Amino acid sequence: MKSYEKLLENNKNWASATIEKDPEFFHRLSNTQTPEYLWIGCSDSRVPPDSITGTRPGEIFIHRNIANMVVHTDLNMLSVLQYAVEVLKVKHVIVCGHYGCGGVKAAMTQQSFGIINKWLRNIKDVYRFHEEEVNSFQNDEDKLNKLIELNVQEQVMNLAKTSIIQKSWKENNAPHLHGWVYGLNDGLIKPIFEMPAGTHMDPLYEFDNL
Ligand code: CO
Repeated sequence: MKSYEKLLENNKNWASATIEKDPEFFHRLSNTQTPEYLWIGCSDSRVPPDSITGTRPGEIFIHRNIANMVVHTDLNMLSVLQYAVEVLKVKHVIVCGHYGCGGVKAAMTQQSFGIINKWLRNIKDVYRFHEEEVNSFQNDEDKLNKLIELNVQEQVMNLAKTSIIQKSWKENNAPHLHGWVYGLNDGLIKPIFEMPAGTHMDPLYEFDNL
């Protein structure tokens, strides 16, 4: 059997096992989705949002990219965010990074990786904002993990700066923004930063005519 055929085989087994346990499962989900969470995570194959949070189909709306970035010119991310906030009306947006992230690690080097350099430059900016704090750690692994935490924090702040979130905070007093970091070593998620709806930022980021 070719490796991809295994996936199709697994799928058939999963579908029949699911129906056996809950005959209405697919019928129910095929009509509507009402997820309470938007997850913005790293593409890393070792950080599957559903498995690590024990959530089922229909419960989390998901966007993933390298190093869980919130980049204001990323039309893909903005479309997902707008749909999640304005149509699905999610209550929580979670940015989840992970310790040992290869994207953040690559951004800490001077090595060129091709087109991804442009993406990683956003992380180099995070490093520049927090250089002193990152460099207060002695070994490279601690430095990397501190930058991973600070990167999650900055991406949550980037979310808060979008007109989508600003508008929703003003009109619906939601969603609550969370910054989490997942540990590849122990499988545990550490909450490190949060911005409840209405958190004040530098007024320069707050629009008065939304
Ligand atoms: Co990663």
